[in-house]
Amino acid sequence: GTRMAGRGALIVFEGCDHSGKTTQCRRLVEWLQQEQIPVEPFRFPDRTTAIGQMINGYLSNKQDIEDHAVHLLFSANRWELVPKMRTLLESGTTLIVDRYAYSGVSFTAAKEGFTIDWCKNPDRGLPRPDLVLYLNLTPEAAAMRGTFGKERYEQTDMQLRVAKNFQLLKESYWQVSDVAHGPLVNQSWHKTYQGCDQGCSG
Ligand code: TMP
Repeated sequence: GTRMAGRGALIVFEGCDHSGKTTQCRRLVEWLQQEQIPVEPFRFPDRTTAIGQMINGYLSNKQDIEDHAVHLLFSANRWELVPKMRTLLESGTTLIVDRYAYSGVSFTAAKEGFTIDWCKNPDRGLPRPDLVLYLNLTPEAAAMRGTFGKERYEQTDMQLRVAKNFQLLKESYWQVSDVAHGPLVNQSWHKTYQGCDQGCSG
């Protein structure tokens, strides 16, 4: 689409569980705030909405939802936030997003009987990220960072299939960071942020 000066950047963090996405999101938000760049954090699933509460019930194993249906709920949970995201982006606010459609596709496609193409469909048309930061962590290193909790999907075999799907989804604007190699958010990233400051293609 048309690039308008002054739009915020849409920056997404992806990666497997224990890769440090949430910490890196928080650090980046704090850093941008220090730089006086307008910024707003988002995370998906957003468990605060009605749809998000259904997803929370599913993830915490309190409720079973058919696999296709829950995939659509995860997607709907993104779509319901789109008006707010677009308004903020257009007003010049940079969005730092903890998981997005790539998680949606990678997790569902790790289940029996789902193709990546089918999984991508409901998210088609979502605001396109200016940058996806993928935190790369080997399953072995992930395991050393602690045991998985009780939520659905927190099993090693599932996480392995998810990691493979993330690799298949990688696009040219992904930046892959090897988490083993120190702090992600530092001065060298500044250039990248500036580079995508100018627009968010929808
Ligand atoms: P969280 O731990 O970041 O809150 O994510 C909860 C779980 O939901 C995590 O295992 C990844 C999974 N997930 C999906 O299956 N589909 C999605 O669309 C998203 C955003 C997350």
